[in-house]
Amino acid sequence: MNKLAIMGAMQEEIDPLLANFKDIKITEYADNKYYEVSLDGLDIVIAHSKIGKVFASLTATTMIEKFGCDTLLFSGVAGAVNSDLKIGDLVIANRLCQHDLDITAFGHPHGFVPGGKVFVETSKELREIAKEVAKQNSLKVLEGTIATGDQFVHSSQRKEFIQNTFKADALEMEGASVAVICDSLNVPFFILRSISDSADMDANFDFDEFLKSSAQISADYILKIAQKL
Ligand code: ADE
Repeated sequence: MNKLAIMGAMQEEIDPLLANFKDIKITEYADNKYYEVSLDGLDIVIAHSKIGKVFASLTATTMIEKFGCDTLLFSGVAGAVNSDLKIGDLVIANRLCQHDLDITAFGHPHGFVPGGKVFVETSKELREIAKEVAKQNSLKVLEGTIATGDQFVHSSQRKEFIQNTFKADALEMEGASVAVICDSLNVPFFILRSISDSADMDANFDFDEFLKSSAQISADYILKIAQKL
């Protein structure tokens, strides 16, 4: 690996990463800021994309094509779908899908368009490193399916649809788009989330309350993983 990308969606998701670095070079590009740092000699570019699949795709592509990153880690928060998951729990995606991609009118399955695939898998090698780091630090992680869509999910009905259709464990608004970009450009990637809410009717209150603490939990773990790369 030459250069590592670490991205989040929101400023609150990258602030706990940036807090670990003193010497930061900031580049403004495409109406966004890219923070270049060094971790024990490893070059890292950190950025938050802004919320949603389009901004996340732009940022992931920029980190790879403009900054030359050849491995990508994502850190942030998610809504729980799997009822075993509680606020602050860590989820590693082994595969991701787009729950709002829908051309079922033409007989295709949910989440599928021609030329694409319903599920994009993350790097097994990065997952193995992450699980080893979790073991060394006595962290409990769940490895599973993350569903992505351009919707803040705050209804049991929508959550059940996502659970039943994709067997998802958690949901958020960027991961699968980053997965499509990295998969297409042959860049190994890893998507980590810490639970901020349960994607039901209280989701917006819980999200506001737990965004910072869950983002911190995710960032702490992602930095430990980065140190092992
Ligand atoms: N990220 C964190 N919680 C979420 C939710 N309920 N819906 C979509 N993205 C989220």
